[in-house]
Amino acid sequence: MSRKKINVGILFGGKSAEHEVSLQSAKNVYDAIDREQYHPILIGIDKTGKWLLNEGSRFLLNDDDPGRIRLNQSGDPVTLIPESRGAISNLRDLKDSGTVDVVFPILHGPFGEDGTVQGLLRLADIPFVGSGVLGSAVGMDKDVMKRLLRDAGIPIGKFLVLRSHEAVLPFDEAAAALGVPLFVKPANMGSSVGVSKIHNEAEYRLGIREAFLYDSKIILEEYIRGRELECSVLGNEEAIASVPGEIISSHEFYSYDAKYLDEKGAVLKIPAEVPARIAEKIRELALKTFRALCCTGLSRVDFFLREAEETAEGGGVIVNEINTMPGFTRISMYPKLWEASGIGYTELISRLINLAIAGFEQEKGLRTSYSGEG
Ligand SMILES: Nc1ncnc2c1ncn2[C@@H]1O[C@H](COP(=O)(O)OP(=O)(O)O)[C@@H](O)[C@H]1O
Ligand SMILES: [Mg+2]
Repeated sequence: MSRKKINVGILFGGKSAEHEVSLQSAKNVYDAIDREQYHPILIGIDKTGKWLLNEGSRFLLNDDDPGRIRLNQSGDPVTLIPESRGAISNLRDLKDSGTVDVVFPILHGPFGEDGTVQGLLRLADIPFVGSGVLGSAVGMDKDVMKRLLRDAGIPIGKFLVLRSHEAVLPFDEAAAALGVPLFVKPANMGSSVGVSKIHNEAEYRLGIREAFLYDSKIILEEYIRGRELECSVLGNEEAIASVPGEIISSHEFYSYDAKYLDEKGAVLKIPAEVPARIAEKIRELALKTFRALCCTGLSRVDFFLREAEETAEGGGVIVNEINTMPGFTRISMYPKLWEASGIGYTELISRLINLAIAGFEQEKGLRTSYSGEG
């Protein structure tokens, strides 16, 4: 007799700028998931935020063309409700449309990677892959993230925070504090959306206006001249780090265009060609970052290797940011780094699902209210 298969809800798409990347990731996970153990259930979130229960056979349109890939909108509108224990409710008649035992939210950016969906899954009382509400939220907010990293003694670049209701910091003062060029970016975003490299006052004004389109809080950062390295982390309390990889971008920085639009915008070098002691430092800092930001399951930690200090003892490695739900297509950095470290794509998916269930079981053992003394 075979064991009952675990129903894995693959939640994908979403309202963010990374909707299409998420569609690709979902397709790759759906194709690769171990069907001996798991039964995948596809829930696509369209660009307006509606959840649709999709059929595996035709959940994407133009799925062979990354430029034209679309979510098939013909699925039934569904939702998960508090305490439903994974029962999927059809929004038309509130009838039961099946049950998920665990959810893999392959969603990037705001409304997916930022703790919002994680809160909903928590209320629905089901295990899910990746960080919880807190880890997801602090990982998304570059200001809070940097303050926690600084507190943990993790090396980061100089930065300042501006808020839309306050007077704009004059360019001279920003330049005096951070140097020129400098970077401006929304505090909560991703995919390099709203990120600019600033060389002068005119660009400063435009860059600030652009960043404030996406968030009422923005970050100014010193420019770090150097290489961009990334490291994958997997696990809960006893997390492990992969070999580091390098992003070599042909654009002025690793912009949205370099990431998604220009096929030749960037190449991944796996493993990164760095001295062993730098690779070790990166792995150590990746784990430290993961813990400092209260993350679980998986994360990709992104670094700069500052040019001038590359040869200094253990120095020159600076954490740029964490991504709590990194790109997850077969050719994305996160799975590729694991592949190079000995964990294949299908096994990686199984491990993540197991970690989600183990973390959930552990939390279930905790009391949720005061039950008297003694
Ligand atoms: N302080 C900086 N110095 C040099 N390059 C930077 C800096 N901040 C960002 N960049 C460039 O911009 C890209 C996007 O910035 P990042 O902070 O990673 O935002 P996102 O969350 O949108 O990926 C980086 O991959 C890097 O190429
Ligand atoms: Mg980034």
